[in-house]
Amino acid sequence: MYLNGKVAFVTGAAQGIGRAMVEELLHKGAALVLVDLNLIAGEQCKASLDEEFGSHRTLFIQCDVTDEKQLKAAFQKTIEHFGKLDILVNNAGVNNEKDWEKTIEVNLISVIRGTYLGLELMNIKNGGRGGVIINVASLAGLTPAAYQPVYCASKHGVIGFTRSIAALASIGNYGVRINTVCPAFVDTPLLESIEKEENMGQFYKYKDNIKDMMKSFGVLNPSLIAKGLIDLIEDDSFNGAVMKITTSRGIHFEEYGAHQKTKI
Ligand SMILES: NC(=O)c1ccc[n+]([C@@H]2O[C@H](COP(=O)([O-])OP(=O)(O)OC[C@H]3O[C@@H](n4cnc5c(N)ncnc54)[C@H](O)[C@@H]3O)[C@@H](O)[C@H]2O)c1
Repeated sequence: MYLNGKVAFVTGAAQGIGRAMVEELLHKGAALVLVDLNLIAGEQCKASLDEEFGSHRTLFIQCDVTDEKQLKAAFQKTIEHFGKLDILVNNAGVNNEKDWEKTIEVNLISVIRGTYLGLELMNIKNGGRGGVIINVASLAGLTPAAYQPVYCASKHGVIGFTRSIAALASIGNYGVRINTVCPAFVDTPLLESIEKEENMGQFYKYKDNIKDMMKSFGVLNPSLIAKGLIDLIEDDSFNGAVMKITTSRGIHFEEYGAHQKTKI
């Protein structure tokens, strides 16, 4: 997909990986809907982007992605404001092993709901114009994470769901490509949650083990995740892809055996 003139909807856009993705998409000429729960960070993010790109290029919508009504309204506002939707990035996520149900709600249920809502608008079999959906998972979606079992489960869920819907979109000729990106540790405010009992709960005592893992694996710059996103959008051959991003190997892909391959 050629990005110039496209409309992208990014959740969790106010900071971290979402913000880096938004900046890269703006540089490529897309218009952006910035969706985030955090009103102050969202408004600050839009204000600073306005200085560089002009206020007409972005729309900030405060929205809790776990609230079905708010999420539906955000898609509706996107169509009212920009007239179309071409790209959806379900990026909002949390690390909370104490309130673990919330982790499943934000990281998995909202990604599923967002994907279905995005497909309703973009599926050419539904009157849409086609498009691309990227669901942000994690390397923890592919390996065990001893101190973050529910975060790990939520991200495994994102990968399984996304690969399945990508297969369906291909079989049904939806005109929509759906992929996941799975970063290792990334330098964002989310990493601070590892040091907080209110986030880690019973696993708080292992915080130093996670910090040791960060030291040995290294921590990525969010701009590399944004680059991976652009690759997944621009290259029309990707559907059902599981992009991995690590400090040791950079951007690469999970290889599945023939028996596990979906029709792509
Ligand atoms: N930082 C990492 O090491 C890392 C690694 C792999 C994957 N990820 C994933 O990348 C994504 C982005 O993470 P990040 O590191 O940028 O985190 P972050 O905490 O820096 O940013 C997340 C953003 O999502 C927003 N958000 C949280 N809950 C929300 C909700 N209910 N509704 C709307 N917005 C909400 C927050 O306000 C925040 O702006 C997440 O899905 C995360 O799991 C992060």
